Amino acid sequence: MIRTAAYTRDLLPASLSNDADASAFIHRFQLVERIAQDWFRRYGFQEIRTPIFERTELFARGVGAETDIVTKEMYTWRDRAGDDREGESLTLRPESTAPVARAYIQHQMWKHVETARLYYIGPQFRRERGQRGRYRQFFQIGAEVLGSSDHPAVDVEGIELVMGVLAEAGVPDLELRLNTVGNAASRAAFVAAIRAALANHLDALSEDSRRRYETNPLRILDSKAEQDQPLIAALPPIQDFLDDECRTHFDTVRRYLDAADIPYVVDARLVRGLDYYTKTVFEIVSHAPSIGSQNALAGGGRYDGLVETLGGPPTRGFGFALGLDRVVLTLPADRVPEDRPALFVIHLGEVAFERALGLVREARRAGLSALLDPTPRSLKSALRLANKLGARFALILGDTELTSGQWVLRDLARAEQTTVPADTWLHHVQTLRG
Ligand code: HAM
Repeated sequence: MIRTAAYTRDLLPASLSNDADASAFIHRFQLVERIAQDWFRRYGFQEIRTPIFERTELFARGVGAETDIVTKEMYTWRDRAGDDREGESLTLRPESTAPVARAYIQHQMWKHVETARLYYIGPQFRRERGQRGRYRQFFQIGAEVLGSSDHPAVDVEGIELVMGVLAEAGVPDLELRLNTVGNAASRAAFVAAIRAALANHLDALSEDSRRRYETNPLRILDSKAEQDQPLIAALPPIQDFLDDECRTHFDTVRRYLDAADIPYVVDARLVRGLDYYTKTVFEIVSHAPSIGSQNALAGGGRYDGLVETLGGPPTRGFGFALGLDRVVLTLPADRVPEDRPALFVIHLGEVAFERALGLVREARRAGLSALLDPTPRSLKSALRLANKLGARFALILGDTELTSGQWVLRDLARAEQTTVPADTWLHHVQTLRG
C-alpha cells in the first residue's frame, strides 16, 4: 500500500474515516472557512489566489535568508530547463505574505486602490518535524492590508478580525500576545546591543546562532538550542530600544485594543520567526487541552518594508495568518455536525425505480440534498442504508404507492411515517424539515 508522505494527511468526510479523531474531518475545516469568509466580507477583504509555488528568491528575500523557514524548511527544487530558459529554482510556498506582496507589485495594485485588502485560504508547505498540530502541508487562512496607511487602527482592525473568527468558530481559551519589534532604526540599535552582549560568549552559542551573530543577530532569538537559552534570556528586551514613533504606535495599538474590549498580554520576547516585521507583532494561542504543545493558532503583524524589499514602491503592510489545522484541533467534537442528506428515495420494483429517478431530480432542483441508490433491495435493507447515510427522511415508492398516488414519507430521526399525496410531497418534506 502506498500511503501519504510523512507528516501529510488526507482530510476526509467523517463518515468515510476510520479515525475517531475528528482533527482531519473536512467539515470542521469548511466550517472555519465559511466563518472566515463571512468576516472577510464584512471587513471589506477580497480573495486572492496565488500559485502554490514561486521562485525561491521571493522567500529568501521576503521571509529572510537566515530564518528557520528559509534555511531548513523549504521544499525547493531546480526546475528542468525549458525551451527558452535555464531551469530555475522553485519553492513550494511556506507562507503567503511574500507571494501576496509579490502580486501587489506585479499587478501594480496601488494604481487601482489606495489600500488593497486581500485574503487567502490554502495550503502551505514546511519541512518541519511532524507532531500533533504540526504538518508538512498545512492550511492557512490569512489576510494582508497593503497600502499607504500605517495607522495603528489598521493593526487593531486586523487583530479584531482574527479574534472574531476564532471566537465565532468556538475556539476555547484564547490568549492574544502582543509586542513591537520597532522600525529599522530601533532594530539597528537592538541588534547592536545583541552583538555587544554576546561578543564575549560566542563559544557558548550553538553553531546556528554563531552564524546568525554575523548575518542576522535578531534571529538568534528564534533559537531552540538548549545552550543558547540562558544567553537569550539575559538579553535586554527590544522595548528598551524603541524610538518615540514606535513607542507611540505601540501605545495607541494597546489603547485601541482596550477600547475594543480585546484582552491581551504583552510578551516582550515575541519577535516572530520571519524577517519582514516592523512595529506590531502578535500571536494568538489557545490553552485548550486538546491542542498540545503546538498552541500558536495565528500570528501576524506589521511589515512596512516588505514591498520595497521585493522591488516595489514604499508601502505599508499589515496581516495575519491562522493555522486551520490547529484551530480545528481545538474545536469541541459536537461543535460542528456533518452535513447529511435530507432525503433518501427508496424504490421497490422497476416501475417505481423510473419514477424515483424523477423524484430525486425534483428534490435536488428544489435545493434539497437527495440520494437514490440504483441497486434493487428489500425495504428493510434500503431503510438500513438510509439510516447509515444519516438521511433525515426516506420516501418510499412501491406498487401500492404508485397505484394510490400516495407516497410514504418516513421521518428517520423520529421513526414516524405518514402518507403524502404525489403532487405535494415535496412541499411536505420542506415543511417538515422547517
Ligand atoms: P506563521 O506564524 O509562520 O506566520 O504561521 C501562521 C500560523 O500557521 C501559525 O500560528 C500556525 O497556526 C500555522 N502553522 C505554521 N506552521 C505550521 C505547521 N507546520 N503545521 C500546522 N500549522 C502551522 C506566517 O505564516 C505569516 N505569513 C503570517 C502573516 C501574515 N504575517 C503577516 N501577514
